[in-house]
Amino acid sequence: MEKKYGLIGATVSHSFSKSYFDEKFFREGLRDYHYDLYSLPTIDDLKKLLAETPELEGLNVTIPYKEQVVKFLSEIDTEAKKIGAVNVIKIKNGKLKGFNTDSAAFFETLQKWFPRTEQSKALILGTGGSAKAVQQALKKLSIPYETVSREKGKADHTYEDLDQDGKIIAGVQLIINTTPLGMSPNTNTCPPINYELLTTDHYVYDLIYNPARTLFLQKAEMRGAHFKNGLEMLHVQAEKSWEIWNN
Ligand SMILES: NC(=O)c1ccc[n+]([C@@H]2O[C@H](COP(=O)([O-])OP(=O)(O)OC[C@H]3O[C@@H](n4cnc5c(N)ncnc54)[C@H](OP(=O)(O)O)[C@@H]3O)[C@@H](O)[C@H]2O)c1
Repeated sequence: MEKKYGLIGATVSHSFSKSYFDEKFFREGLRDYHYDLYSLPTIDDLKKLLAETPELEGLNVTIPYKEQVVKFLSEIDTEAKKIGAVNVIKIKNGKLKGFNTDSAAFFETLQKWFPRTEQSKALILGTGGSAKAVQQALKKLSIPYETVSREKGKADHTYEDLDQDGKIIAGVQLIINTTPLGMSPNTNTCPPINYELLTTDHYVYDLIYNPARTLFLQKAEMRGAHFKNGLEMLHVQAEKSWEIWNN
């Protein structure tokens, strides 16, 4: 029997999720399984998609709907509720249950790569759905963090604060980009921070994986900082999504 899965987001053409699942289904001989990209102009278009595609058994959720999608769920997993963002939906008998696998995927990939010490501190750029997942992972790893937003009052700092006080960047070892700045096709942009402040002691993690080396990571590399893109996180969260859909 045909089984359908997919990704919903405002623009999904940048995503590697379809190729990841297409290859997985081919490799594992799952001939009746399909994964499609669904670009939804608004989150309210989800109702129409569900009505038109009754074979759907699971969805991934991407920018900018990880928080907005919560209102469509019949149930939400405890961890996703705590985070306040959902990137996986399991569909059963027309009912939607939300989960978050971004947080565990970030946790796992960060733990392997970042040499945490008692003094480690982090700075998170952006305050959206994936920023919330990153915050939860950092709490679990006992890494204190501060957040940065374009808007005053929404986070610990604005980008103007970072410009005025170089100690904010100098005082952290880990900087995580959770904004879409630099993501394909807008590859010539990057978060507006002073890259001159980066040193060989900084670890710079970009959740973006397309392109593999964003302008943010290129600038970090030029300063000799350690850097990592979001590809491994994408793969880990995809496998965790698969476990949820097939549990
Ligand atoms: N590798 C992976 O597995 C993985 C997983 C999750 C997400 N991601 C990537 O992470 C990025 C964010 O995804 P998301 O779902 O968290 O999106 P989101 O919910 O829309 O949040 C993005 C946040 O970035 C900030 N932002 C948006 N536009 C900006 C701009 N023009 N300039 C500066 N800041 C801006 C906003 O924070 P403020 O309004 O506070 O500034 C916003 O809340 C996407 O590129 C996505 O592909 C990758």
